[in-house]
Amino acid sequence: MPSEFTPEQDERLPLILGFQPVTANTVGATRFMDYGKGVYVYDTDGREYLEATATFYVAALGYQHEELIEAITAQYRQLPFFVSAMNRTGRTSLELADRLRELVPIADAHLLFGTTGSEALDFLTKLLRAQAVARGRPERTTIFSRHGSYHGATLAAASLTGGHHAEFALPLPGFRHVAQPDYHGARLPGEAPRDYAARLARELESRIAQEPPDTIAAFVAEPVSFSAGFMLPPAEYFPALTAVLDAHGIALVADEVVTGIGRLGDWFGTQALGLAPAHLTLGKALTGGYFPLSAIAIGPELYADLESGSTAVGTFAHASTYAAHPVGAAAALKVLEIIERDGLVAHGARMGERLAAVLERLRGHPLVGDVRTLGLAGCLDFLRRDADDRPRDTAAAAEETCRAVNAALFDRGVVGRAAGRGLVIAPPLIVSPGEIDDIGARLAAALDAVGG
Ligand SMILES: Cc1ncc(COP(=O)(O)O)c(C=O)c1O
Repeated sequence: MPSEFTPEQDERLPLILGFQPVTANTVGATRFMDYGKGVYVYDTDGREYLEATATFYVAALGYQHEELIEAITAQYRQLPFFVSAMNRTGRTSLELADRLRELVPIADAHLLFGTTGSEALDFLTKLLRAQAVARGRPERTTIFSRHGSYHGATLAAASLTGGHHAEFALPLPGFRHVAQPDYHGARLPGEAPRDYAARLARELESRIAQEPPDTIAAFVAEPVSFSAGFMLPPAEYFPALTAVLDAHGIALVADEVVTGIGRLGDWFGTQALGLAPAHLTLGKALTGGYFPLSAIAIGPELYADLESGSTAVGTFAHASTYAAHPVGAAAALKVLEIIERDGLVAHGARMGERLAAVLERLRGHPLVGDVRTLGLAGCLDFLRRDADDRPRDTAAAAEETCRAVNAALFDRGVVGRAAGRGLVIAPPLIVSPGEIDDIGARLAAALDAVGG
């Protein structure tokens, strides 16, 4: 039930919220969420919101999932905490590593755990450095990623992230960024997807040529960047890109923190797109948000190099107190069990088809420039193109429209995500057909409210 809490207007909050101006940390500008059930969350005024982004793409099983809560509670009673270090670990931590090893699309993977997606990217960056040292090439530490992508908040993850660098005096040395596959926004008038993909591959090739030989360790990418505005790449993009990476012996790292665990119609986004990453990262939906836990699945070559490197030094001097937390492991094991048992990847894919149909119906709306969908996710893009295929809106104008429609949607009780020009919809895997239709109806009303 909603609590009795009634916030006073404009009082400064004692906490700092993310991705908003610091001056907006006031009571009056903030909604206080009180409880959630299924795909809905409720604020302290009793208002209901359909969480059409699974709250930052996390709550795959929705809220108040009793079976999950019971599994977590049982783990709390049995072994509420243990460290995975110095020849000891928790039983559930090992079980989760075993389960993920079966599941991830990397043969003979080994698992390292963290608490957040940021940590997963950060730790992986560090492992790649350990690999470079073990191979006697300590300068082979440069990592490429893409503008507009988001990889996290820690220094390395924020350096991988393709934006918001200047305000934090980032990136750290050794991080490079190339174009996001934004075919809708950045193609030349009339440019075919194949030509656009080839152009991006040439850009990467020429950027690699600017680096000293054999100094690039990896290329990090989400299969689809949600943060850049659901940038579903043309089918030709990853084949063209991986041909360049393979030619230079550069590892493809898939950041599956958002796209993993059923989001794109398969267990992993790399499977949905037919990619073969050397390593991948997971977080968010892995525990449905019921406990902070992230995972890095590394390929056998990196593992072998970690073995030889640690043998040379006498130890692997990396651990994190809460990594592989038994309660997080129990939560993840239960989430994976429920998803498998209840066929939620297939259900999500079916709901995704319905979502795609709902969003496609809005393609003809005067405000909408493009619709992109894959699996249980999609976006409306507000950059429109004219009859000659030239952009009709500036990116800034399209972003403004996107924010306005998202605000109108929120007013109608649906939480979407304005990511650049793209209004992203990605509800929990447990979403029902009626709830998808409801999202569509309220989205149509929001569009009409902003501009008919
Ligand atoms: C693709 C991607 N990678 C990594 C992260 C970082 O995860 P976390 O916020 O759990 O640190 C995010 C967070 O939104 C993300 O979207």
